[in-house]
Amino acid sequence: MLTVESISALRDALAGAKSIGFVPTMGALHEGHLSLIRRARAENDKVVMSLFVNPTQFNDIEDYEKYPRDYERDERMAREAGADLLFLPTMAQMYPKGFDTVVVVRALTDVLEGASRPGHFTGVATVVTKLLNIVRATRAYFGEKDYQQLQVITRLATDLDIGTEIVPCPIVREPDGLAMSSRNVRLTPEHRKAATVINRALDYVQEIADTGIHDAYALKAWLAQTLEVEPSCKLDYAVIVDPEQLREVDTIDEGAVALVAANFGKVRLIDNRVLRVAPGPEIRR
Ligand code: PAJ
Repeated sequence: MLTVESISALRDALAGAKSIGFVPTMGALHEGHLSLIRRARAENDKVVMSLFVNPTQFNDIEDYEKYPRDYERDERMAREAGADLLFLPTMAQMYPKGFDTVVVVRALTDVLEGASRPGHFTGVATVVTKLLNIVRATRAYFGEKDYQQLQVITRLATDLDIGTEIVPCPIVREPDGLAMSSRNVRLTPEHRKAATVINRALDYVQEIADTGIHDAYALKAWLAQTLEVEPSCKLDYAVIVDPEQLREVDTIDEGAVALVAANFGKVRLIDNRVLRVAPGPEIRR
């Protein structure tokens, strides 16, 4: 695996590749990231992972400063998972003097993470557009863990004719069900244990839906109640929305996703579940 800092070195290394798979990350790699690299490895001639802790998407300076960083470990893990190239741009490379452009995805970013973290998605959309333009990949891989981010990126890639296929990848979880996240290491042991309530609550919503209850308001109430049983879970939102526009729905019949954001101490966690609708008549609304 070759590590490159400059755009020209990256382009030289990719010249002649039959297909390019791209995995953008902020480092602090875990199995979730590695699953994207392995998928990219299986589907492309060359695999590029970028590692850049993007300051413009953090709305809390402490969150940015405390973001875990361990480049040597990340480099080793990316290599072992099958990346050919690690793109490690400098701050000056990404935001040179005079940088003055942003990419704003509008309606999709007014809600949920966008409402709780003003400016976050403009930071994400701008850096991802820039990275996609730099790498010019055939396919780029993003986790469903960050469900709204995935929708925002899919939207911008379509709207701006980026020409890279955006490939959604399933959420990778810890053995106890907690969705893997670079922020999990910042949880206290008590909060780490308490945080497993999120996956349990999402499982429970699917189980209730499987009994034939498709009323989104009833499911949402069950979701919130299950989460609030855990005293250290400070809920930001627990909603059931349509999978593309992310607006709340009345029923899950047309497809829906349950989205959760909650704080455990100072750590904000997000998770979600795309709800399956069992075949057969709905028995209760
Ligand atoms: P980061 O949080 O490092 O995540 C990089 C990619 O890994 C994202 O596509 C994310 O959805 C995916 N991912 C994280 N946890 C996962 C899990 N448990 N299962 C599956 N995939 C998972 O997301 C970002 O970085 C940044 O916003 C970025 C897109 C790189 C722009 O700066």
